[in-house]
Amino acid sequence: MKKITLFGIEVDQAAALAPMAGVADTSYRQICHDMGAVMTVSEMISAKGLCYQSKGTDALCQLTEQERPAGLQLFGSEPEYIAKAVNLIQAYQPDWIDLNMGCPVTKVVNSGAGSALMKTPDLAAACVKAAVKESSVPVTVKMRIGWDAEHINAVSFAQQMEAAGASALTVHGRTKQQLYSGHADWDKIRQIREVVKIPVIGNGDVKTAQDCQRMYQETGVDLIAIGRGSCGNPWIFKEIRALLEGIIFTPPTPEERMEMMLKHIRMIIAHSDKPSTLAIREARKHASWYMTGLKNAAAFRSQCYHLNSYEEAEQMAETFLKLQ
Ligand SMILES: Cc1cc2nc3c(=O)[nH]c(=O)nc-3n(C[C@H](O)[C@H](O)[C@H](O)COP(=O)(O)O)c2cc1C
Repeated sequence: MKKITLFGIEVDQAAALAPMAGVADTSYRQICHDMGAVMTVSEMISAKGLCYQSKGTDALCQLTEQERPAGLQLFGSEPEYIAKAVNLIQAYQPDWIDLNMGCPVTKVVNSGAGSALMKTPDLAAACVKAAVKESSVPVTVKMRIGWDAEHINAVSFAQQMEAAGASALTVHGRTKQQLYSGHADWDKIRQIREVVKIPVIGNGDVKTAQDCQRMYQETGVDLIAIGRGSCGNPWIFKEIRALLEGIIFTPPTPEERMEMMLKHIRMIIAHSDKPSTLAIREARKHASWYMTGLKNAAAFRSQCYHLNSYEEAEQMAETFLKLQ
């Protein structure tokens, strides 16, 4: 497998896991890493929340060896808080620190953070500079291609982040206004790749191994990050490796899918500081995703959303498998 060095870290040039708040927690990241994701990134962490020791922030910053190389992602729009947060977050020993400039969630955007920073490139650059000054590890940026169709500033924004000291850019090829609809504009990603010297990680709409191969060919990116395409399908990372190496990939059997689902639920419960009856709620969506594409999946989805214990999940998996 071809190797690539990104901001001092050598990885196979296959696919990384994109950050997903509420989805890609430590259990998820460990599973994807195990399946061949070459890098993982934490859920976004509020810079201010970290400074004020908000509830739950410490848990979001915890990294295990099984998910490295791994970055911790901060969001915020005030350089002073970014600087303080970068200082604090280094205690968790991230391999790099990523700054979120792509989140479209109203609460985040209204505070001037996430994708709102694409409207204020000078402030975004100040955040990068503040982070770089305080950080002993590389600082990277995750961005979109602009605010809306009338304000697509991906290329100049990317150049400005590079000049401010970013060590790499992950580009989700959509505007803020698109949220997750429409198509990711891979050509914009290609244009960014052409003008910056730092590594560019392409992101958006890679749902199959073939999509991944095509994105490499069409954009020339250094690496590809996958978000939703891995939900219920962490095997996508294995499949990508197989395709790029010319090896035959055998898709998981329904039994393997259910085994992975149960393992994932066990991990979520084990990592949670909540009682298992509450922790299982975090696992419900994952359980339903593991059924995608299998027979009778639709009928079982609603059952997934009512799971109250691990034992119920085991029983459900057993019944489900009998119908395959
Ligand atoms: C549920 C969910 C949560 C997300 N959370 C984050 C986040 O915390 N930080 C971030 O930079 N991007 C986040 N994203 C965006 C993804 O990292 C990615 O850019 C986007 O989903 C497009 O890639 P995909 O088509 O492979 O999913 C999130 C996406 C989803 C669907």
